[in-house]
Amino acid sequence: MRTVLVLNGPNLNLLGTREPSIYGSATLTDVERMCHDEAGKLGLMVDFRQSNHEGQLIDWIQEAGPECAAGRLLGAVLNPGALTHTSLALHDAIKAADLPVVELHISNVHAREELRRHSFVSPAARGIVVGFGVAGYPLAIRGLYDAVRSAEAIPTSASEGVPEEHPRRSPGGTTTTGSTRPQTTSPTRSSDHHRLRLHPETAPPARRDLPGRA
Ligand code: DQA
Repeated sequence: MRTVLVLNGPNLNLLGTREPSIYGSATLTDVERMCHDEAGKLGLMVDFRQSNHEGQLIDWIQEAGPECAAGRLLGAVLNPGALTHTSLALHDAIKAADLPVVELHISNVHAREELRRHSFVSPAARGIVVGFGVAGYPLAIRGLYDAVRSAEAIPTSASEGVPEEHPRRSPGGTTTTGSTRPQTTSPTRSSDHHRLRLHPETAPPARRDLPGRA
């Protein structure tokens, strides 16, 4: 069973009492419960953490990289708190770990002060969930799950055969499928989507198809 990591940055330990008009009245313990409920529906385990320290979050992201590459971890949902707007180091850590990350904000940061509109994390994130309150956490888990699984379902070349539905990686470079037909593969990393062929239905139009081009 794979795990989804849920990381929370500075001041999120104060959820429930911190500016409830912005962040609501649910506590971080309530949020953790919601994450477990959603992950359970998807057959995932949750590793839920919070730290007020940038270096601690970076250490956790660095440790998550190999776990993800080994197939034990799906990726991470990350609410970086105010570090969103300041931390190039978090951005670099996500890239270095090659970790699929969904960035999450409880509040709609774009409808708040100007300084909250820029995120250092977004360019390194697989997706972003913003402004749905704490209900964004289960949405982010679901989104991460769908994004990672659909990337895994499309092989890199025709020589790798017909796409199989939702293959799961396991440690040791084997891939198992719902049909329990094991295949030996070279060890893969979570960034395989970078090398994946785009599915014809999702591929962007060819340059000549773009409006305004001759
Ligand atoms: C936040 C938004 C950040 O701007 C803020 O510093 C937080 C929480 C959110 O979840 O809405 O601490 O990440």
